[in-house]
Parts: sequence; structure tokens; C-alpha cells
Amino acid sequence: MTEESSGRQDAYVITVCSASGGCGKTFFATSLADIVGRAGHRTLIVDLDLQFGEIAIALQLRPQYSLYDGLYGTHGQPLPAEAFEEHFEELVVHHPFGFDVLTAPRDPALADYVGAGDCTHVLEVVRKKYDLVVVDTPPALTEIVLTSLDQSDRAAVMATLDVPSLKNLKTFSETLRRIKIGDDMQRLILNKVDDDLGLDVKEVQETFDDRFVALIPLSKAVSRAMNVGTVVPEVEPNSKVSQELEKAARSLLPPEMQPDNIGESSSFLSRLLKSSRKEGTRDEAV
Ligand SMILES: Nc1ncnc2c1ncn2[C@@H]1O[C@H](COP(=O)(O)OP(=O)(O)O)[C@@H](O)[C@H]1O
Ligand SMILES: [Mg+2]
Repeated sequence: MTEESSGRQDAYVITVCSASGGCGKTFFATSLADIVGRAGHRTLIVDLDLQFGEIAIALQLRPQYSLYDGLYGTHGQPLPAEAFEEHFEELVVHHPFGFDVLTAPRDPALADYVGAGDCTHVLEVVRKKYDLVVVDTPPALTEIVLTSLDQSDRAAVMATLDVPSLKNLKTFSETLRRIKIGDDMQRLILNKVDDDLGLDVKEVQETFDDRFVALIPLSKAVSRAMNVGTVVPEVEPNSKVSQELEKAARSLLPPEMQPDNIGESSSFLSRLLKSSRKEGTRDEAV
């Protein structure tokens, strides 16, 4: 995280959500945080996929604490409301790519303790500290996801190029509209796009009134990056995946956070070399 900030009072909040599992929410949330974090904006990912959150695994982090520990003590006793903010520095992981992470509970059983009110409190606290908060969620419209959407400026709604996922996306998007999260707030992202899947992408776009802001290709680059704890914009900045991620980012972010072109010059290695020349070492991820 660098000192530069956008001058915004409250973080811009983006909830990454989907109706179906495996749509690429965690992949997208980590990539978006990377794109914005590298530009020097104070960026946090909050993993509200409380039971099976995979942000820590995807980034190969071993956090000592999760957001649960700022809310509850041993045996699930609620801590005073101030505890979360007081202990925030111990709860958060500073990732060397330039963004922070608030991880989901280690044990799915602990997730049951964390309610919608807790999530409201967490988001209220973190939005005072960052320029951008990216919220990763489970594949459902749970009360917790609704709470997050309620505090969000934009919803990144993801689907993959297959009939069940697209059907669910339609229902999901309509449901959001009914609860006053209109099309102006929603940004639809189609992931795992390939020519060979028996669906015509153009037709799919038309069915959704051209609402997809990015068509991210099915690519081994994504699994490759996730399997070694990195993100595609860091390791393959000129790939089609990175270009589409950037397109999605442009459509989701406010003007002051629009990303520069992803290019070799801003790769993690070159930033690391630049910053170590300037200031010695950087923080290590926990
Ligand atoms: N564009 C893509 N191309 C290939 N594999 C992808 C792509 N997007 C995601 N994946 C893979 O699909 C799986 C599910 O992605 P993930 O981000 O965990 O989805 P979600 O968080 O929505 O469940 C992961 O193994 C990930 O590497
Ligand atoms: Mg996930």
C-alpha cells in the first residue's frame, strides 16, 4: 500500500457476486484489487465468502487472524464494537502487490457467528480507511451479500459461458433490480469465454442487451496464476485476460481510479526493483 490516495472521503465499494459457483469471483476480485492497488490507491479485499472463502488460498496467504477475530473472542463471545477498529492492523494482511486483505474465518463453523450486522460494521469501518474496497462473496443472494450490496457503489455480477450460469444470471440481475440495485449499478462480466462451447457470444450479448462490459476468455493463464498465488495482470499483463480485466475495471471504477494501461513497465518485478532502489525492502505478506 502506498501513501497516495484519491482524496475520496469514503471508499468506493464494489461487491463481486454471482448466482452460480465457479464463475471467477475470487479470480476477478484479486485481479481488480491488484490493478487498483498498483496505481497507488489504498485498496482492500474483504472476503465475505465466510464459509468457504478462498482469497487467502488464492494468494497463498497464511494470516494469523481473520475478520472473525475482530468481532468475536474464543467461544464466539461478541467483542465490544470498537474492538474491530482497534485491532484492525493485526487483522489485515498487507500484500506486497500493493493491496490489503481481510480474510474469511479459517473454520467454516466460525462463519455462522458472523451476521449481517457484523458485516455492516466491518464495511463501515473499512470504508473510512481505503479508497477502494472489493468484496468477494459466496454464489448466492444471502443476507450478507445483500448487506454488502447495500453498501456498494457497484455490483460486479459474474457468469460463465454456459446455459445454467446465464439463466441464473438473468434471474439474479432481475432480482437485484427489484431490490433497487438497478442496471446503472450492475456491471455484468462474462468469464471463461471460448469459441468452442456451443454458444454464440454475440447472441448471448444480444440476449442481455449488450450489458456485458467484459468478455474474459477461458485461459490456462488464470489457473496457472492462481496455483502459484499470483494474479494474471502481474504475470501476463499483455494477455487478452488482462486486457478484458482492465476493461471491466474501467467500467466499474470512478474516474479518479481508472487504470493506466497494464504493461510490462508496471509489472510487480519492475515495481519491486524500483521501490527497493528507493526505500530498501517492502512489507512481506504474512
Ligand atoms: N477465465 C478463466 N479461464 C480459466 N479458468 C478460470 C477462469 N476464471 C476462473 N477460472 C478458474 O475457475 C475456478 C473458479 O474460479 P474462482 O475465481 O474461484 O470462482 P468463484 O470465486 O466464483 O467460485 C478456479 O480454478 C479458477 O482458476
Ligand atoms: Mg470464490
